[in-house]
Amino acid sequence: MAEVEVIRLAKSFGTHDIIRDLDLKIEDGEFVVLVGPSGCGKTTLLRMIAGLEPTTAGEIHIGARDVTHLSPKNRDIAMVFQSYALYPHMTAAENMGFSLKLAKIPAAKIADQVARAAKLLHIDHLLSRKPRELSGGQRQRVAMGRAMVREPAVYLFDEPLSNLDAQLRTSMRAEIKRMHLEEKQTVIYVTHDQIEAMTLADRIVAMRAGKIEQIGSPDDLYNRPASTFVAKFIGSPAMNLLPAELAGGEIRVTDGPVFALPPAFAHLRAETGRKVLLGIRPEAFHLSPAQAGWPAFEVTASLIEPCGAEVYVIGDLAGQEVTLRLAPGTAPARGESRSFFADTAALHLFDAVTERSLRDDDDNQGQKP
Ligand SMILES: Nc1ncnc2c1ncn2[C@@H]1O[C@H](COP(=O)(O)OP(=O)(O)OP(=O)(O)O)[C@@H](O)[C@H]1O
Ligand SMILES: [Mg+2]
Repeated sequence: MAEVEVIRLAKSFGTHDIIRDLDLKIEDGEFVVLVGPSGCGKTTLLRMIAGLEPTTAGEIHIGARDVTHLSPKNRDIAMVFQSYALYPHMTAAENMGFSLKLAKIPAAKIADQVARAAKLLHIDHLLSRKPRELSGGQRQRVAMGRAMVREPAVYLFDEPLSNLDAQLRTSMRAEIKRMHLEEKQTVIYVTHDQIEAMTLADRIVAMRAGKIEQIGSPDDLYNRPASTFVAKFIGSPAMNLLPAELAGGEIRVTDGPVFALPPAFAHLRAETGRKVLLGIRPEAFHLSPAQAGWPAFEVTASLIEPCGAEVYVIGDLAGQEVTLRLAPGTAPARGESRSFFADTAALHLFDAVTERSLRDDDDNQGQKP
């Protein structure tokens, strides 16, 4: 196990700057999840840490060593790729044990390690099959097993569960979490899955165009997003953002209600005329206020999406499209208007121009753009 430190790392392909001046320190035993839109550089960053992609500038340290110019095999890392490659002529067990065989580990020890990983991954019954006799999800688990048997200092996972069905994905997610709680490996894990990011991460790194937009605990990113980019990216359905203006201790939603600044934004009380975006998560709307002072918003429902345990209502709030997450049986009918109260403690404010959070306790702004 080891810590990983990336210092002023940069990567360009031709004239395209893909990773820009990126600093990131991952503690020994930490589980860090990288999220960000397609093409923002997540795979490129992992490949550089793995040594599969040369750096344009900057340094990579693993444990006490500067590994920037070491070959992949000397970095003591294992990477599970977005598109995994198995040796077609080897069985699942041979694929999983191959690196141990190269390292001249005794056959009995290899068999033990492979059996243990296979059991965790629920592929123990598939060990004698060749890759072509396996489904996509089964192959992906063999690829994960191949990384796990090596017990490297650092695991790099690039969307390792993306080919699995929903049920398997949920159980594998729990297995990965359990494994990490027990063995405390250092893990850097890329995913597009919100629930994977929220449940697995000690810290989430939100990337945008090759830079870090915000680093923090899942709770930080969800409840204290540093920018509208993070606010919209973390959470599904996404946070609603309404144009508004500050005026003498009040928030005036454009063509909508006016109400007092919530406590987290009390420091803005002297501001008048500043254009802001008011953020309200879909679940922050309630049919009645739990506390005095909760602002009310009139919403006209245009689309009802029942999802079993909850209902998403898409509607119009002061001329803006919003999404509400409600308990089944409490949703308005299509076309119906109703007042909803928003939890003051769950409101967010962003500057309309910089799109940065205006929260007072916001000490985690990530890298400045
Ligand atoms: N070998 C390459 N040559 C040129 N451009 C590349 C190369 N590899 C990646 N890129 C570009 O670098 C950018 C980042 O790619 P990368 O694969 O790191 O994105 P990503 O964040 O992993 O996206 P996704 O979520 O879709 O997997 C993209 O614009 C991509 O087109
Ligand atoms: Mg990728």
